[in-house]
Amino acid sequence: MPHPLEELRKAALGEIEVASDAQSLETARVKYLGRSGSISAWGEQMKTLGKDEKPIVGKLLNQVRNVVTAATEERAQKFRAEKESDTLANIDISLPGTPHERGSLHPLTQMLDRSIDIFRRMGFALADGPDIEDEWHCFDALNTPPDHPARNEQDTFYLPDGRLLRTHTSTVQIRAMQAAPPPMRVIAPGACYRRDEIDATHSAQFHQIEGLYVDENISVADLKGTLEFFMRELFGPETAVRFLPDHFPFTEPSLQIHVRSKALKRGEQWIEVAGCGMVHPAVFEAVNKARGDAAYNPEQWTGFAFGLGMDRLAMILFDIPDIRLFAQNDLRFLRQFA
Ligand code: PHE
Repeated sequence: MPHPLEELRKAALGEIEVASDAQSLETARVKYLGRSGSISAWGEQMKTLGKDEKPIVGKLLNQVRNVVTAATEERAQKFRAEKESDTLANIDISLPGTPHERGSLHPLTQMLDRSIDIFRRMGFALADGPDIEDEWHCFDALNTPPDHPARNEQDTFYLPDGRLLRTHTSTVQIRAMQAAPPPMRVIAPGACYRRDEIDATHSAQFHQIEGLYVDENISVADLKGTLEFFMRELFGPETAVRFLPDHFPFTEPSLQIHVRSKALKRGEQWIEVAGCGMVHPAVFEAVNKARGDAAYNPEQWTGFAFGLGMDRLAMILFDIPDIRLFAQNDLRFLRQFA
């Protein structure tokens, strides 16, 4: 006659096998393996058995418990797998996904990157300075007299403490020379601010790349060569470049640069794109005074400087009619440069 535990095993396995879902399986599990289930009850009965019987029944009980536990787990696993594949079957993998829009660089950033790249090929290093400046770096050190119109509150944004938003990147010429002796070959891209009447070609904030090259025997020919090379790299080999006399307090002589190219939409028109000139000896002297040495001795060193209008260059290159578009954040505009 089979032992009652074996009967129990048979009954349990039978019920597990016919369980049609996770819930009826759980009912069967509790019935046999639960704390007051019939297999567990046998554990209690063990205590009443004699010395000879105990090990034999104990072994059988363990076996039965293991087999029934394994069968329950196997069946439960099957139900879980079925549930998962049901869920997966309801996912339509042919549905289009959620599109992620790709960003792109702002046209001004593209213009800056291209320009910086050209100057780096000519050996210019990058320098920078703060947008919030003091009057000394913006005007005094740049040989700008106290009564110069640029200093006027109508033209320049002043902070209550007397500092100002730099009106040009020429401030970085001074900072670079304060920081290191000659020779010096740097460019400084950055934002500038003026209280201009805002229109299609004027904005309160615009961008420049400043250039400064100081060495022995630097002449206007070096200045011309450098900027002509830059313009032709940017606008194509057909580009014509002309230099006209101008005035800046910090350069002597001072020039303005115009470009014209058939490759550009504006065709035969000359367009002013930069101011430049040979560094004024008074600028070197101001730097020496601040440094407390004579590193920039104007008898030994000469140099040229330039300030390129980045917004203007980008407007020409990309044929953009209005400077305000750069700051309006209109995706219809920006997408055209993606
Ligand atoms: N700082 C001048 C401007 O903003 C440009 C310039 C730079 C001119 C360097 C000469 C030398 O108009």
